[in-house]
Amino acid sequence: MSAISVRDLSMTYRAPVREGGLRAAVASLVRRRYREIRAVREISFEVGPGEVVGFIGPNGAGKTTTLKMLSGILHPTDGEARVLGFVPWRREREYLRRIAMIRGSQPIGGPPELTVMDSLRFQQLIYEVQDEEFKRNLSELDEMLDLGSLLERQIRALSLGERMRSGLALALVYRPRVLFLDEPTIGLDVSAVQMIRSFVATYSRETEATVLLTSHYMADVETLCRRIVLIDHGCIAYDGDLMGLSATLSPYKLVRVAVSDGACGDWSRYGEVVESEPGRVSLRVGRQDVPAVTARVLAELSVVDLAVEEPPLESVMDRVYREGVA
Ligand SMILES: Nc1ncnc2c1ncn2[C@@H]1O[C@H](COP(=O)(O)OP(=O)(O)OP(=O)(O)O)[C@@H](O)[C@H]1O
Ligand SMILES: [Mg+2]
Repeated sequence: MSAISVRDLSMTYRAPVREGGLRAAVASLVRRRYREIRAVREISFEVGPGEVVGFIGPNGAGKTTTLKMLSGILHPTDGEARVLGFVPWRREREYLRRIAMIRGSQPIGGPPELTVMDSLRFQQLIYEVQDEEFKRNLSELDEMLDLGSLLERQIRALSLGERMRSGLALALVYRPRVLFLDEPTIGLDVSAVQMIRSFVATYSRETEATVLLTSHYMADVETLCRRIVLIDHGCIAYDGDLMGLSATLSPYKLVRVAVSDGACGDWSRYGEVVESEPGRVSLRVGRQDVPAVTARVLAELSVVDLAVEEPPLESVMDRVYREGVA
C-alpha cells in the first residue's frame, strides 16, 4: 500500500484583483473582482512507505501548495489524496499525530518565550507521548541534532540554524510517520545544511518514515532522494529516478577530453566549449552526437583521457527552469 496517494489533485486560488486609485478601491468593496490562480492542476503520484522523494520545481510551481494540501492545512478545489489512508484535509487527530510539516522559511515552535525544552514538553502533552518514549526519542534527536545547550534557551533567542534544529526536534519528538519538508535548508550556512541533510538521511533510515522534500538546492535532493517528482506550472513534468532526470531533461552530455600535445586549435568543431585549459577541455555535445564526436576526437587527436558524463544536475535544472520542460 502507498503511504501517499494523490489523484487529480487541484488547487485554484481566488485572489482579489486590486486596481489602483481610490475610486477603484471603493468600487471593489461593493463588487469584488477575483482572479483565478491555478496553482496545482490535476496532479497524480504515489509514494511508497519509507520512500524519500524530492519534490522539485521552479518558484511558483505549486510545491508548497501541494504540501499544504497533503498536510491538511489547505482544502483542495478538486481531486483526491490519501496519506496513510487518511484524507489529509479532514484533519483527524489520528492523522495529525502521524505527520509533520516543516517549513524552512517558517521554523515552527510554540510561544517564543518558552525554552526549547518547555516547548518539547508542550509537544509531548499535545501529542500524548509516553514519558519513556519521549525520553528515548529526545535522546536520539539530541544525538543527531546536537541540541545540548539549546534545550535551555528561549525559542525567540535562537539563530535561524538553531531554530531549524529545534524545530525539527519539536516536529519529530512524537515520531511522525510522514514528513513534509518544505525547503528545510533555506538560508542556512554550509555546516548547518550538512547537519540537516545527514539528519534527514539518518532519521528516514532509522524510523522508515516517508519523506516528501522540496528544495532549491540540488545537492539536497542528490544526497537524500533516489526519486524525483518535478512540478512545473502546477503539472507533474517528471516522476522517476534521480539518475534518469538529466538523461530525460537534458539533450546534452559532457565530454571531457585531455590530450598529450597541449593546445590543439579549435575545440568548437567538436562541440560547445564549457571550459578549457591547455590540453584539457569540457564539451557540451548533443546526446545523439556523442558516439560520432568521441570517435572523431579519438581519431584526430592524441587523447590521454576521455570521459562522457551527465551534466551537473544544477545546470540541467537551471536550464529547465528558465526554458521550461521540453
Ligand atoms: N494564498 C494564495 N493566494 C493566491 N495565490 C497563491 C497563494 N499561495 C500561493 N499562490 C500562488 O500559487 C502558485 C504556487 O505557489 P506555491 O507557493 O505553491 O509555489 P512553490 O512551488 O512553493 O514556489 P517556491 O519555490 O517559490 O516556494 C504561485 O503562482 C503563487 O503565487
Ligand atoms: Mg514554496
